[in-house]
Amino acid sequence: MNSPIKNDRIAWLQGPSAKCEAVPAEQKNPWRLILLGAPGVGKGTQAELLTEHLGACHLSTGDVFRAAGKQRACDQSPAMKTALEYMRRGELVPDSTVWEMVRERSACIVNCGGFILDGFPRTLGQAESLKELMETEKLSLSAVVNYELPVLEIVQRLSGRRTCEQCKSVFHVTERPPKVESVCDRCSGRLYQREDDRPEAISVRLEAYERSTAPLIQFYQDLGLLLPIVAKGSPDEILARTLNQLEARPAHSVQ
Ligand code: AP5
Repeated sequence: MNSPIKNDRIAWLQGPSAKCEAVPAEQKNPWRLILLGAPGVGKGTQAELLTEHLGACHLSTGDVFRAAGKQRACDQSPAMKTALEYMRRGELVPDSTVWEMVRERSACIVNCGGFILDGFPRTLGQAESLKELMETEKLSLSAVVNYELPVLEIVQRLSGRRTCEQCKSVFHVTERPPKVESVCDRCSGRLYQREDDRPEAISVRLEAYERSTAPLIQFYQDLGLLLPIVAKGSPDEILARTLNQLEARPAHSVQ
């Protein structure tokens, strides 16, 4: 296993003008993973754990939007202000805005330590754009992990979620509680409930997932990259299941 990285992801969260203090070490055969699955299935939780084990950067598009939402309104571009309105309603942000944001951060995707994409791509258009970028850069995906869970359990996970304001670590009020209520175990930041975890936004997000993101399962199945993983059990059990499946793939081994 690689030693855990403490990447602050600042270049991903704030854009290419910011520089990460610690970047993942160069790897001979870096992991380049996409995590698929409905909102709340546990992608962010697994991405954090996988980052510790695989040494690749956790790149979440939702985290970029939330970081932009914390800026003063006068510092937000018009496209970002519109994107944040979509997000609050639980709708997908238009492809053109998402791709512009990812494209300007393409150094994070090309980095030599690999990546774990969480929340991107989310439409066939985004998947095609990513495929083109990777072909241009002569990079290939290691696998696309698809986390599967019944909808009732997904809603339970979303409604109990608490997120750290500072380091974005994710907790759950009953399933993964912090040691001190409302305080992050990792950085002592304040924990808050996301605006789009309100019941009315949750149902919009689940519909958007079924309509726009679920077709990616077939897209990646056809490319021979799909790894379906049952997302039941504790985060550590799901992590072990994921690592086992990844280990079984050719050209990579989880040490
Ligand atoms: P994003 O931030 O990507 O949200 P999401 O996909 O809706 O996923 P979530 O972050 O809600 O859930 P998760 O699967 O990461 O679960 P988590 O690990 O937190 O996107 C937000 C919005 O931004 C979108 O709605 C859209 O508007 C916009 N957006 C972002 N990217 C976009 C794109 N590419 N295109 C267009 N729009 C885009 O876990 C959930 C809870 O469950 C936590 O409390 C956790 O502690 C708990 N939990 C996790 N695992 C377990 C377990 N095994 N057992 C019990 N509890 C668990």
